[in-house]
Amino acid sequence: MLEALKKRRAIRNFESREVELDKIETLLEAATYAPNDRMREPWHFYVLQGDSLKRYEQVALDYLNKRFPTKPHLVESSMKAITNTPLVIVVTSAIVEGDEGATKDNVFAVSSSIMSIWLMAEQLGLGMVWRTRGVGLVHDTALHDFIGASDQEQLVGTLCIGYPAEEITSEKKRSPFAEKTTWL
Ligand SMILES: Cc1cc2nc3c(=O)[nH]c(=O)nc-3n(C[C@H](O)[C@H](O)[C@H](O)COP(=O)(O)O)c2cc1C
Repeated sequence: MLEALKKRRAIRNFESREVELDKIETLLEAATYAPNDRMREPWHFYVLQGDSLKRYEQVALDYLNKRFPTKPHLVESSMKAITNTPLVIVVTSAIVEGDEGATKDNVFAVSSSIMSIWLMAEQLGLGMVWRTRGVGLVHDTALHDFIGASDQEQLVGTLCIGYPAEEITSEKKRSPFAEKTTWL
């Protein structure tokens, strides 16, 4: 397990070939086994490929053009994040009306489910990056509206997935756990 956790990396460059349906279903099945408070199973997955992915590209392009009207190069380079991705899964978390604690717990559970998808993807020979910023559009209303999520859902992650077109060999150094731990 420790080896798998150390090996997991954010993959941002993908081959153009599609991800097989049975692999997508395995990713989603893995996600549903994540721990979650009171079995609310607060996640929902929106799968974008082919035509719907093309339409999401347009949503992202409109967003970037509006946000960076004087920086066409930045817009162009940011767009590569999705134009080179064959599969996107947008993951939302249920909002519990009037219960901030439960709403937060739901986000924790959904985050766990995303980690399960990430590790499952690696085992299936796929790569993934969890995006929130830029074209990830997690902190904006554009993608929420585009996927047709309800007012009772909030976006947690835009997962870009595909067969890796890169192998990351450099180590992403982590601080030793001792620096992050207080023994009481
Ligand atoms: C909540 C969250 C949001 C992230 N958002 C982005 C993002 O918007 N764009 C991006 O390129 N990577 C994003 N990442 C990936 C991180 O940059 C990456 O995990 C980090 O650099 C560590 O690298 P590693 O995953 O290869 O260990 C995000 C990761 C998490 C957990």
